[in-house]
This record gives sequence, C-alpha cells and structure tokens, in this order.
Amino acid sequence: MERHRDMQTEDVTGGPLRQWPYRTPRLFDAAVAARYEDWFKTPFGRRAEREERAFVLELLGWLGGPRSILEVGCGTARFARWLSQREHKVVGLDRSPAMLAEARQLAPHLPLVLGDAHALPIGEGAFDVVLFVTTLEFLEDPGRALQEAARVARRGLVLGVLNRWSLAGVRRFWRHGSVRAAGRLLRPAELEDLVRQALDGRVAAVTSRVGVPPWGARWLGARCALGEFIAMGVRLRA
Ligand SMILES: C[S@@+](CC[C@H](N)C(=O)[O-])C[C@H]1O[C@@H](n2cnc3c(N)ncnc32)[C@H](O)[C@@H]1O
Repeated sequence: MERHRDMQTEDVTGGPLRQWPYRTPRLFDAAVAARYEDWFKTPFGRRAEREERAFVLELLGWLGGPRSILEVGCGTARFARWLSQREHKVVGLDRSPAMLAEARQLAPHLPLVLGDAHALPIGEGAFDVVLFVTTLEFLEDPGRALQEAARVARRGLVLGVLNRWSLAGVRRFWRHGSVRAAGRLLRPAELEDLVRQALDGRVAAVTSRVGVPPWGARWLGARCALGEFIAMGVRLRA
C-alpha cells in the first residue's frame, strides 16, 4: 500500500488528514501532472478554458451565487484556484497525490484534500455547491460520486463533462494519449439520465448547455451542440 505522508493537505474539518490507503491512480501520475496545464496555454486551450469558465460562472449564478464550493477531482486546481480568486470559499479534492502536489505548487494557500469522490471525507451539507470539471468521465462509479456530492452539497451541483458527440471528441487529451483513452465520455442526454437515476428524488431542476467548439472554430459560436464541453447545473431539494 502506498502512503502519502509528505502531501501538504488540509482536512476541511480542521483535524489531521486521514491517509488514504489506495495506490496512486496511474493515469494521473507525476508525468501527466507535470504537463497537465500545458495544453491550456495554447491559443485554443486558452479559449476553451475561457468558455468553460463562462459556463461554470453562469451555472453558479443559476444556483444563487454560492459562497462555498468543493471541487471534486480538482487536479492541478485549474478551476479551484480561479474560483478562490473570485471570493468563493473553495476546497479542492483529488485522489491523485501527483495532481495535488502540482496544485499545491500553483496555489500554496488553497485548501486541498486527498480523497476519493466515491467516499468523500466531508460531512453532510458542508458546502453550498459541489463542482466536477472533466472528472466524472474518469470515475469507476460516477453515479455513486454524484450521490456523495449531493450528500455534501446544500444547493446543488455544477458538472462539466466532455461531450461524446463532439466533433473533435477530446482533442485536448490527444497529447495525453493514455488519459484520453481512459475517459468514459457522455452525451448530454446520458449525463442527465445519470444524474436523475443517481439522485432520484433530490433533483429539483436541471439545466444544461453545450459549447466549446472544436478546433477553436469561432464561426460555430460559443454554444454549439457538437462542442466539446457539456455544462450542467443540478438544483437539489433540501
Ligand atoms: C481530467 S482531470 C480534471 C482536473 C480538473 N478538474 C481540471 O478541469 O483541470 C480528472 C481528475 O480527476 C481525478 N480523479 C479521478 N478519479 C478520482 C476519484 N475517484 N476521486 C477523486 N478524484 C479523482 C484525477 O486524479 C484528475 O485529477
């Protein structure tokens, strides 16, 4: 069993972080973590990130402008550190110590938790909103992770998922061949079915948008059905 004693992480409950006994997911290892953000520095990557952020902001607004946000599968904290600069109280959680180590370098003050989306080490209703950005695709049991997210969220969930019906598929991961191969992409309707099945009576409303045109094709507009990114907001019943 691998132990991660040297990880600088914080437990949101204020106590010492439990050491997680599973092995580092090989997919998001140190090599991937080190170059994970490179693509988002390319012209298309910058534009995709800008458009993904706009969707996330719109959905956070739809959920009433939450104060506290847990990002599950935060990776290098690309979204968590941006949101924390926008006056949200953000905590990032990830199962990969390598991705969290990179996040720690990039955002030394951001609270980070080493943990598993399928069994969140967080109490009920601890956050206004739980956010997933391109993480559900990589989980063994995304339905279980949605149930866990709904357990810890008071208001709702914001989900960003790569669109299986995109023209370009997951172009962003072409440079990370193994990463792309491992992701289980969804169609917009599949994502909504997954949410409704997993959360059953807890769903009060769902809204979604599809965008981020492939190849940076500006003429397609920021919202296009064959875009790479599905953004979905889920409002929860108390
Ligand atoms: C494609 S990355 C997305 C990272 C970040 N959300 C972003 O948009 O840049 C997927 C992340 O999910 C994490 N992950 C995969 N399985 C997980 C699990 N069971 N629990 C928590 N995080 C997980 C990976 O370690 C990885 O950092």
